[in-house]
Amino acid sequence: MKRLSGKIAVVTGAAAGIGLVIAQEFAREGAHVYVTDVNGDGADAAAKDINAKGLSASSMAVDVSRGQDVTAMFQKVATEQAKIHVLVNNAGLNVRSDFRHLSDADWVKIREVNLDGVVRIARDGFDLLKAAGNGSLINVASIMGHRGLRQLAGYSATKGAVSALTRALAIEYAPFGIRVNSLAPGFIETALTDRFLRNPAIRKALLDQIAMRRFGDGLDVAGPALFLASDDSAYVTGAEIAVDGGMMAGL
Ligand code: NAI
Repeated sequence: MKRLSGKIAVVTGAAAGIGLVIAQEFAREGAHVYVTDVNGDGADAAAKDINAKGLSASSMAVDVSRGQDVTAMFQKVATEQAKIHVLVNNAGLNVRSDFRHLSDADWVKIREVNLDGVVRIARDGFDLLKAAGNGSLINVASIMGHRGLRQLAGYSATKGAVSALTRALAIEYAPFGIRVNSLAPGFIETALTDRFLRNPAIRKALLDQIAMRRFGDGLDVAGPALFLASDDSAYVTGAEIAVDGGMMAGL
């Protein structure tokens, strides 16, 4: 028996990286997955690939920082499915900068995707999650919401807010049968971290802080995402799972 059979899932930022693997794994577990991304061609390709395996996906170009895109996304899902069982707020980005030099434009860019997008989707997705009867909202936060690292202060501020929002929404949404949890990845090898982790000195310094002495990959995050999406976590809400190879445990 597949763990997400008959479920409707929506994943943002799912054309690449962690979101793509989550979408693929959800589909493999029987969900129909809406693969959404600001990169519409990438989302189309990802959905095509999932369908080619005999699984089920649709795609849509959605920039989570644009209210009209998010509205259109939920309208499409409302028309086609009338409910969402699993909604994953995964889209995110970062602009590395010393905080004292962080421009207004870069701060707004980080905040509009990592926080405003998450807020908008968590708010506007409520009716469809409620309609599912046992909805699961999963926010991709970060261990950077709980610790500092040079040139990541703006990013950290948005991710800390996502963790706080998760706890607050768990309380507000529980009476409507919606669970709200977050994942806090550590260092996962994707396009987001590629340039940073290519530096041998940085690689070594970080690996020395990770109990398991390796970086994560998309599947490492998709497993816990699947747990939070499925009925295996039916009594879990307001929780955050660190997916960091023990990095936070050692601080
Ligand atoms: P990635 O850069 O590999 O992929 C991000 C995806 O989101 C891309 O397909 C991109 O087109 C899409 N995206 C960017 N802006 C968007 C927007 N405005 N609307 C819709 N889609 C948008 O990044 P990665 O590593 O897969 O990150 C996914 C999530 O995981 C992000 O929220 C990130 O902050 C978080 N995270 C990643 C960590 C890592 O080490 N890679 C660690 C902790 C958290």
